[in-house]
Amino acid sequence: MAPASNQLGPNIGVRVAGAPAGSPTPSDFELTELPIPEPADGEVLFRSIYMGIEPSMRRRMPSPVGAPGPLGGQMQVGDLMTAGQIPLGDPLFAGHVGEVIASRHPDFAPGDFVKGGSEWQVYHVAPGRLLRKLNPKAAPLRHEMGVLGQSPFVAYCGLERIGQPKSGETVVVSAAAGAVGSAAGQIAKIAGARVVGIASGDKCRHVVEELGFDACIDRTVGPIVPALDRECPNGIDVYFDNVGGEIQRACFDRLNDFGRLVVCGMVSEYNAPESDHGPPLRPVLRKRLRIEGFVVWDHLDLYPEYRRRMKAWMREGRLKYRDHLVDGLENAPGALIGLLRGENVGKMIVRVSDDPTCLTR
Ligand SMILES: NC(=O)c1ccc[n+]([C@@H]2O[C@H](COP(=O)([O-])OP(=O)(O)OC[C@H]3O[C@@H](n4cnc5c(N)ncnc54)[C@H](OP(=O)(O)O)[C@@H]3O)[C@@H](O)[C@H]2O)c1
Repeated sequence: MAPASNQLGPNIGVRVAGAPAGSPTPSDFELTELPIPEPADGEVLFRSIYMGIEPSMRRRMPSPVGAPGPLGGQMQVGDLMTAGQIPLGDPLFAGHVGEVIASRHPDFAPGDFVKGGSEWQVYHVAPGRLLRKLNPKAAPLRHEMGVLGQSPFVAYCGLERIGQPKSGETVVVSAAAGAVGSAAGQIAKIAGARVVGIASGDKCRHVVEELGFDACIDRTVGPIVPALDRECPNGIDVYFDNVGGEIQRACFDRLNDFGRLVVCGMVSEYNAPESDHGPPLRPVLRKRLRIEGFVVWDHLDLYPEYRRRMKAWMREGRLKYRDHLVDGLENAPGALIGLLRGENVGKMIVRVSDDPTCLTR
């Protein structure tokens, strides 16, 4: 039985209100109150506790000309913003961690914790098969959206399947203080590589002093090319690209023979109408380079080993992790805008409602 909706708080949602030509602004989003959905047979009603924010959410917003741009754009004005995607029905990529309020599925009961849901709203109904049950005694719920969630797994997949860093090699990681980049650099360090990050401002100190990178280039101070020459005197063997654009080109030009360019994301281009044309192919042949893009959900087979290794690395203090918590769904637009401006350190997470597992500790 679902509790009466007047016993629950309001179901707030966030709609797309504009089709931004460049960086989104607060007026491109609109708060709305929605009815609390009723679960049908086989479905579960849950309240979101944490929602992950990712750069790709910007990519899925509508473009001003009404058509998806080269980098996507699937939402329309008036739609609820979406968090996460559940391709092939795997809740690992869902947007929320939440608490079950009512269930009409035999595997779930009120008080269970789940990962699932995609829209930016407080209450969600989902079929049980699209939910992953979580054990808050095994790992804090917040970690399920952060360090044990999608972003560091993206880093793991890109390095395991494409970058394959080796001892003594030089690895460069852009957006190095972010959710994916911070994990990518540390995993490359564990593999024995010399790791150089690229980030903005004070975050560089965090990248070196806390995350243990060998160096970090501040992309906001001076041109990137001489900084790369200074920090990578032996060239670059692996470039883990989170940003595209001119940083990608500068790193590409410095790749050594048999270098690997891991095309993970292009956040510098998500506000732009056109995609960059990318690097020339002649050096790819001459230097026998490997350039490969990947999408994390093609590598789900790696998830069990990733989770096991990540937990061990954290236990051993070899992998440090931070997240960037913003309170209240009404502040989710600001969180996305801030992420695209580089205001975050680690995974950007919105706390949608109180985490009962923290309140009882
Ligand atoms: N391939 C996949 O399956 C997959 C899955 C998920 C995410 N991704 C991609 O992974 C990348 C990182 O995602 P994330 O969630 O971990 O985000 P994030 O790195 O935590 O946040 C984005 C960071 O990008 C940097 N940035 C923003 N604008 C920039 C610009 N114009 N030039 C250079 N850097 C800029 C900022 O860091 P600084 O200001 O410190 O540079 C910002 O903090 C994104 O490109 C995302 O699309 C790929």
